[in-house]
Amino acid sequence: MSAFLHQRIPLQLSDPQPISPRSSSSPQKSSYPLLSRIGLVILLLLMVVMGVLIPLTGISDGVFTVRRSSKWMGYTLEQAVPFVAKDGTVIVCAVSLPYLPFLNNWLISISRQKHQDKVLVIAEDYATLDKVNEKWPGHAVLIPPAPDAQMAHKFGSQGFFNFTSRRPRHLLRILELGYNVMYNDVDMVWMADPFPYMVGNHDVYFTDDMTPVKPLNHSHALPPPGKKGRPYICSCMIFMRPTAGAKLVLNKWIEEMQEQPWSREKKANDQPAFNFALMKTAEQADLYLLPQVAFPTGGLYFRNKTWVRETKGKHVIIHNNYIIGFEKKIKRFKDYGLWLVDDHAEESPLGRI
Ligand SMILES: *[C@@H]1O[C@H](CO)[C@@H](O)[C@H](O)[C@H]1NC(C)=O
Ligand SMILES: *[C@@H]1O[C@H](CO)[C@@H](O)[C@H](O)[C@H]1NC(C)=O
Ligand SMILES: *[C@@H]1O[C@H](CO)[C@@H](O)[C@H](O)[C@H]1NC(C)=O
Repeated sequence: MSAFLHQRIPLQLSDPQPISPRSSSSPQKSSYPLLSRIGLVILLLLMVVMGVLIPLTGISDGVFTVRRSSKWMGYTLEQAVPFVAKDGTVIVCAVSLPYLPFLNNWLISISRQKHQDKVLVIAEDYATLDKVNEKWPGHAVLIPPAPDAQMAHKFGSQGFFNFTSRRPRHLLRILELGYNVMYNDVDMVWMADPFPYMVGNHDVYFTDDMTPVKPLNHSHALPPPGKKGRPYICSCMIFMRPTAGAKLVLNKWIEEMQEQPWSREKKANDQPAFNFALMKTAEQADLYLLPQVAFPTGGLYFRNKTWVRETKGKHVIIHNNYIIGFEKKIKRFKDYGLWLVDDHAEESPLGRI
């Protein structure tokens, strides 16, 4: 379950909720020439004081993050997607500052498959936008408004729901631009190139989050609903073509999220809504379940050594889910030799971060 990735806030973050880009980037011409000289001096003094004192005192950099990142604030999805896309395809993820190590780990594994050039990071805060673009210009975009960082990472919170509910909207916008899109959670590691598995001309490709072992020749149809009245498809790894069928699924997903608004009881995330959307559009959209052996849930890969041994060499993307907690995820990746950032940072387009 992709939700587990966002389980904790290990770092204290300032709220990067931006002042509207438009209002902060339209400098007013002074119409009071008499005041301007004194005003200028005061302004200069103020800037010096703030420039010196703020970094020293470490006062929340929320406001200053916005100012500092002005260079990338106007960078839109409409500019970013054509810039990074190769062969009409982009690979996207959505990341906030605490997850940069996971982003880098994922990027190293993608670089090994030579697909890093088409990666676009959807930054969920301005610090991430700056950091990624500073090392790798043009590969991060922030789609305003930035979600509240404090709230966005408490699994089950309304902030978390808001955070994940943005995903289908972002994906739809990319499809509307006419590109294929692969979405990944960043607690994933590529063992092989996934694109040869996107066979045929289906609208939407996805993976099952269920742990029971399936036969190698299992059906590629949407699995039947389980106990909760829906299948357990993971919203963590999705490939879509810019077709009417794929857009229909995304629109249904957005609709489903609105119809099942957040409640403390349900601890909603976007995965149930995705599954209901798939169920309800299965007749109209061409759906394709990817092979379990290549795209196993973490609940299978990390829990069944026999299966892993028997299917050695057939795994394509490993998802570090079915575990709760940031440190636990890192430890598990380390235990399985999938934590690449400590020794192989130079293989990432971001280098060591
Ligand atoms: C979540 O989104 C709703 C609707 O856009 C908004 O009213 C609410 O303040 C948001 N809550 C949090 C915690 O981000
Ligand atoms: C998979 O293979 C088994 C045995 O060869 C066969 O009985 C079954 O019908 C196949 N299933 C599918 C979905 O093709
Ligand atoms: C583990 O994998 C083996 C080999 O595929 C399988 O026979 C067994 O049922 C699996 N165990 C569980 C608990 O799923």
